[in-house]
Amino acid sequence: MRVAVTGSSGKLGSATVERLRADGHEVVGFDRDGMPGAGFVRVDLTDYGQVLDSLLGVTARHDGLDAVVHLAAIPVNGLVPDAATFHNNVTVTFNVLHAALRAGIRTVVMASSITAMGFPFDEPPPYLPVDEDVTLANNTYGLGKVVEEALAAQLVRWYPGLGITALRFTNVVAPGEYDTFEGASDPAYRRSLLFSYVDARDGAAAVALSLDRPEPGLRVLSIAAPDTGSAIPTAVLVAMHFPDAPVHGTLGEFETLVSIDRAREQIGYAPTHLWRDEYRRE
Ligand SMILES: NC(=O)c1ccc[n+]([C@@H]2O[C@H](COP(=O)([O-])OP(=O)(O)OC[C@H]3O[C@@H](n4cnc5c(N)ncnc54)[C@H](O)[C@@H]3O)[C@@H](O)[C@H]2O)c1
Repeated sequence: MRVAVTGSSGKLGSATVERLRADGHEVVGFDRDGMPGAGFVRVDLTDYGQVLDSLLGVTARHDGLDAVVHLAAIPVNGLVPDAATFHNNVTVTFNVLHAALRAGIRTVVMASSITAMGFPFDEPPPYLPVDEDVTLANNTYGLGKVVEEALAAQLVRWYPGLGITALRFTNVVAPGEYDTFEGASDPAYRRSLLFSYVDARDGAAAVALSLDRPEPGLRVLSIAAPDTGSAIPTAVLVAMHFPDAPVHGTLGEFETLVSIDRAREQIGYAPTHLWRDEYRRE
């Protein structure tokens, strides 16, 4: 497929571009940061005209696309003022989705986040492991993700052939960043993330699988590693931090508290990069 990846200069974007190219896709990256060249165009995605024109074609770069992977965003609160995070991310997502539809593109994968399901979990989750039925925003970044999922849910009604996959990534860890797991024996480590993490290469694999198995309508899928990022057994963490949250099913020793069952079932997601191996290696 000919695929545009927005946010291609970022952490997840660069891993995704690498993965999609390795899979044989023709990829063009769109980002406001980066060096223009083969396979990359500098685009301010807050400017609808630039977005629409970029998706329709860019001289010497591409003359039409089959799919869009939309990863561009300010990825956390605190980098810019809170309202600026919301304005950038929601505007950019509207622009990319709407322009993609105008350009006749009917396959979209977009980044959502665990922040759309209760991060930082000061209020205990309604049950554990949390799944995609939980939608709760507690900051402007998370509010943006909830709004972006809502945009997608309406747009798939307008265009019956349109398939959008919103991947709710948890904290993305790139190779070279595993030294932070030296804190893994601390019971508070990653508590605000329900102790979860996902390797950037597994995140990229989830994007690739979503493109390989397009479905009309909106799919919202959580993407995390199958284990927690903690050295403490999951049942002990639950008893310490969320004693009143009902636990659905039986928890494996270090099983994630962000359910990835739907991603496993719907796109065949099978993460392979675990912090225990990566931390040792680094
Ligand atoms: N990093 C995480 O832990 C995490 C967790 C959950 C979800 N996500 C989501 O995954 C996606 C990718 O995150 P990331 O970690 O790679 O972030 P990143 O900051 O490394 O990359 C995001 C890229 O988007 C670009 N961008 C932002 N606004 C833009 C604009 N207006 N015009 C053009 N380019 C713009 C930035 O230049 C950057 O290169 C984001 O949607 C983020 O919200 C990330």
